Order: sequence, then structure tokens, then C-alpha cells
Amino acid sequence: MIPVVKTIDEIREYVNKWHKEGLSVGLVPTMGYLHEGHKSLIDRAVSENDRVVVSDFVNPTQFGPNEDLEAYPRDIERDAALCESAGAAVVFNPEPEEMYDNALTTVSVDKITKVLCGKTRPVHFAGVCTVVSKLFNIVKPDRAYFGQKDAQQLIVVKKMVKDLNFDIEIVGCPIVREADGLAKSSRNTYLNAEERKAALCLSRGLSAGRKLIENGERSAEAVKNVVRGEIEKEQLAKIDYVEAVNAETLDNAETAEAPLLVAVAVYIGKTRLIDNFIVE
Ligand code: PAJ
Repeated sequence: MIPVVKTIDEIREYVNKWHKEGLSVGLVPTMGYLHEGHKSLIDRAVSENDRVVVSDFVNPTQFGPNEDLEAYPRDIERDAALCESAGAAVVFNPEPEEMYDNALTTVSVDKITKVLCGKTRPVHFAGVCTVVSKLFNIVKPDRAYFGQKDAQQLIVVKKMVKDLNFDIEIVGCPIVREADGLAKSSRNTYLNAEERKAALCLSRGLSAGRKLIENGERSAEAVKNVVRGEIEKEQLAKIDYVEAVNAETLDNAETAEAPLLVAVAVYIGKTRLIDNFIVE
């Protein structure tokens, strides 16, 4: 059975040994309750590195006070089985006390964390950047894998790595979807049958926006309106945001031209879902 390691010292032992042997190390940071989206990252990491570490840690510092930290689904046994079958070498599953031992230090990225999800989740990206920095320093991977599903997170992590000179390659991986188009997410487990159906409005809205661009539309406003209109048809949906931004700077886009990120956050009942597409 794949080892599930709880302490920083222990995970360092594994990694230091591999580095001494000249083996490359890939890291896949997750909050667990793994699904095929996570698995696609692990598969990619396994194909590009000699050893792969999957971190499985519901990071408390990236949740706001009224968010779903307690409710967040957890199943370390099932996660470990998935990691093993995908070919990972070890799972790092620390307790919050192991990761945050009276810590006073945070890592925060300015400007690009204040838009999109950062508007309604003011502490979120500092929590992400802090835990990802710690994981980078603990695991010292050659490469780390992040999903396009969390497009802003990927952009923020890339910027942090550049700004702080982490010697780590950040690999972005495409969004994995259910057969009907819903982006896979651990939070999909919150949806009841009716909400599950309603949740399709995100991918439906984004598809409509993408088609409009493919058919020659150049106004970002027009694209946003089509996406918003499609989502608003759904009774159970409450829009947090529908935005079209430059996919590098996250500045508002006037024209629907590459590099463009069209991103949405929508409440379906109490569950907040995100999805996006990029025009490159
Ligand atoms: P989590 O939501 O568990 O996601 C872990 C990684 O899996 C992220 O890089 C995310 O973008 C990717 N992922 C999730 N669903 C995906 C999908 N449907 N297709 C492709 N990739 C997908 O993101 C986090 O955890 C945390 O913020 C973390 C980076 C681990 C820091 O705590």
C-alpha cells in the first residue's frame, strides 16, 4: 500500500533520498476527495517525473469564516487507493497543527488576487500562496501540477513562482469534465439531484460564449452578456461573477481577443461553483 505520511520530517526523508539518487520529483497539491480532475494531474506528473508526491490537505487558511471548511468532504483511504493506482509514490496528509505551528508568516500576491474570486474571497489566495509555498519548500519538487479549472489560482501561483524565484516548473493541465459538461469538483458532492441538473448552466453558458467568439464576435461585453443570459435562465443559479479578462494580467478585457480568460462563479443553491475557458 502507498505510504500516507503525516509529518514534514518524514516526507522530507523520502524526497531527500530521491534527490540524492538523482531522481526527479513531481508534486500534485490537492485538498483531497480526489476525482478524475485530480487524477489527470497525477497521471501527467507520473509521466514526467521519476517520483510523484500527492499532498492531500484541506488547508484551513484559504477558507473564509463563512465558507465550507468543516463541510469539505474527506476520504483519505479512497484518496490513497487512487494515488497508488495512478502510480504516485507517497501521499502527504498532514494535520493543520503540523503545517501551521504558530506560524506568523504569509505569502500574498497583490493585484491579480483582488479580482474574480478574490473579490468575494479576500483571504483565499493568501492562504493558497502560503500553503503552496510551504509545500514547495517541504517537497522541493522539480515540477508542480495545477488545473486550469482554477484558472486564477494557476495564474497567481505562476506569478508567485516568478516573483519569489522558486526553481520549480509549474505545469497547467486542462479541465476534466463529466460527460454532460459539468467541470469535475469535490464540491459537486454538495449538489442534490435538482441542483446537479441546474449546475449545467455554467458549462452551457461558457459554451455559448465560446461559440460566439468562434463566430467572430469581438466585443467582450457581448460575450459576457451571452454567458450571463444563459446562466440566468436557470432558476436555482445566483451569479457571483461573469468576467472576461486578459489571461495574464487579469485586467478587464474590452475585446474578446487572446489571451482571454472568460470565467464564472455561480451559486447553485448554497454551493459555489466555478468554471472558465481560455482563448489562446
Ligand atoms: P483542489 O480543489 O483539491 O484541487 C487540486 C488541483 O486539482 C488544483 O490544481 C485544481 O485546479 C485541480 N483540479 C480540480 N478539479 C479539476 C478538474 N475538473 N480538471 C482539472 N483539474 C482540476 O486547488 C486546490 O485544491 C487548493 O487550492 C490547493 C492548490 C491544493 C492549495 O490548498
